[in-house]
Amino acid sequence: MKKTILLLLSLALSFQALADEGMWLPNLIARRIDDMGAKGCRLSAEDIYSINQASLKDAVVLFGSGCTGELVSPKGLLFTNHHCGYSFIQRHSSVEHDYLKDGFWAMSPAEELPNPGLTVSFLERMQDVTGVILYGWNPSMGEEARDSVAKANSARLQKEVADPENGISASVEALYYANQYYLFVYRVYRDVRLVGAPPSSIGKFGGDTDNWMWPRHTGDFSIFRIYASPDGKPADYSPSNVPYRPKKYFSICRDGVKEGDFTFVYGCPGSTREYVHSEEVRYIGEVSDPQKIALRTLRLGIQKKYMSQSQEVRIQYSAKNASVSNAWKKWQGESKGIKRLRTVQAKREYERRFNEWAAGGPYEGLTERLEDIYKRREPYYLAYEYFNETVRSLELPSLASHVYGALKLGRPVDAMARNFFKDYYRPIDQESFVALLKAFGQNMPEDFQPAYYKDKLRSYGTVEAWAEDIYSRSLFCNADAVASLGAEDVALVEADPAFEVYNAFQKWMNSDIMPVLRAAEKELKAANRLYMKAQMEFEPERDFYPDANLTLRVAYGKVAGYKPADAVYYAPVSTLTGIMEKDNPDIFDYNIPQSLRDIYAAGGCEDQPVCFLATNHTTGGNSGSPVLNADGLLVGINFDRVWEGTMSDLVYDPVYCRNISLDVRYLLFIIEQIGHAGWLFDEMSFS
Ligand code: ARG
Ligand code: ASP
Repeated sequence: MKKTILLLLSLALSFQALADEGMWLPNLIARRIDDMGAKGCRLSAEDIYSINQASLKDAVVLFGSGCTGELVSPKGLLFTNHHCGYSFIQRHSSVEHDYLKDGFWAMSPAEELPNPGLTVSFLERMQDVTGVILYGWNPSMGEEARDSVAKANSARLQKEVADPENGISASVEALYYANQYYLFVYRVYRDVRLVGAPPSSIGKFGGDTDNWMWPRHTGDFSIFRIYASPDGKPADYSPSNVPYRPKKYFSICRDGVKEGDFTFVYGCPGSTREYVHSEEVRYIGEVSDPQKIALRTLRLGIQKKYMSQSQEVRIQYSAKNASVSNAWKKWQGESKGIKRLRTVQAKREYERRFNEWAAGGPYEGLTERLEDIYKRREPYYLAYEYFNETVRSLELPSLASHVYGALKLGRPVDAMARNFFKDYYRPIDQESFVALLKAFGQNMPEDFQPAYYKDKLRSYGTVEAWAEDIYSRSLFCNADAVASLGAEDVALVEADPAFEVYNAFQKWMNSDIMPVLRAAEKELKAANRLYMKAQMEFEPERDFYPDANLTLRVAYGKVAGYKPADAVYYAPVSTLTGIMEKDNPDIFDYNIPQSLRDIYAAGGCEDQPVCFLATNHTTGGNSGSPVLNADGLLVGINFDRVWEGTMSDLVYDPVYCRNISLDVRYLLFIIEQIGHAGWLFDEMSFS
């Protein structure tokens, strides 16, 4: 009997291990190293993370505040994604030097371009500090006291450890829903220069059409270099700074990958919710995602209509359109995936077994309590999300609110106005107003509509008439009028109809929605902490990885294709031939540079690999992460997932979840053939 139970247990464990799910803490990778080895990895835990010697972790950085990057030379050269460097490339671009369109290649260090505000953060060390953070608290004091004790102790510890003079910053992060606290110590470099970027027709090839999709052919990379003071310390930009000498950098593997090869991703995943109650998943999959998708479908339709009529509007709205469509597409995959996997039912079944186990103990009634809080929270949370996706996403009302805030603080607004109007097209905004505020009335229950909204509809008769009044009368329609506003004009802004609509909804949020929502969130936080703790006791054999929170993680798996639909199989490697198949000068997203066409026509590079799929568990923030082979050599740069697998933020499915990486050999190909920047190869190391 005992034997069968053990057998079943180990079977369950090995199934779980097969699944390639998980974003593991690098300092605890020793716990996974046997499994990694069984799957083909030839590295030791110390190779991956060490506090005593240089290890792979020293070659990985948090790039900016939401991407990952990796060091690839002893002179501080760094790779990340094109979409991670995008805003910096854009800032250096003008009509004369359109680096977004044409690409940018420094031909010597002297030509590299500084990027004020851009930082890269190296993790110096990470450490469990739960004892320190909870010092002075005991369970009899309750959850609220736990929170405030943790806050005060975290602030103290961070201050103690930080050393701004030397660029050392410290942050205490909650793991496992605040059952554990970790200290992360970073060295933050702030002189980071642009070295190279392909034209967008390569770096963003496929645009939003191919975003979240396979087959993919995007050359999504950009190249930067970190500079330091002559003694190697972080420093502000200065011509006397020198290339940073990293403790470790990746060697580049030219052999590539094939189906079945072991790979791992070392980077900073942003946010996942793997251990939450079925009610949270039901809300996301059945309520929130579909509602937000519907609202964004309206906005995207309006944008598309005007963008297709005018080249100027297309440029103005390309970045906005990309960001609206990015989450829109992701949510579709997510809600479909939740449905396909029957995640809500599976979680309910799990909760049933959990409840059986919990009966009579300290966790009895916990899942019911969670369910109750989620149910009470739902209409308020939906109202909050609706506000974000409607009134807050309208451009003129948002501008009015920002300007108002700045004027109140006595700040100038002319730059804000200039920035805004450069990329503003009123018909899009006005039509969005009509569509979104109609949807608001149709989809929000009566008692979750502000009185202001109902009054306005009554007095104008239609949303169209209301919109027409705002968009013809508001002073915010006039760029010069906005630019010349000063502190003395606060009353003028308060009386403006565009400001009024934003302000009225915001006030309603503050008075009717947020207080209930905040109270529910507080209850949830406490209950979720207990639920996480309880799950770890319920399944003592299971190795729980903490949900992502933009701290450094290791995800491992293998190169693998997938079946997106019945009778369809996607092979895991794409090639230059696929780019030529998509190439079309008439379709913006698929219009490649003539030089690439010529190179292809000359022959010999039909099989040039471009992107590949693998089963590594990744999420937003993993963009730009190094994808490494069994020996820790760089084979790719992670940049996306397939949309059928985007529910991996809530539930990972080995059948559908695939990360998409740029094959590093395509990066080398583009540097050489398109950028003619082969001088960069001299400092890289190849194996
Ligand atoms: N889907 C990827 C991510 O979530 C890439 C986004 C950038 N690309 C784009 N076409 N919008 O960030
Ligand atoms: N594209 C995402 C990023 O920018 C990665 C992902 O969501 O898979 O981080």
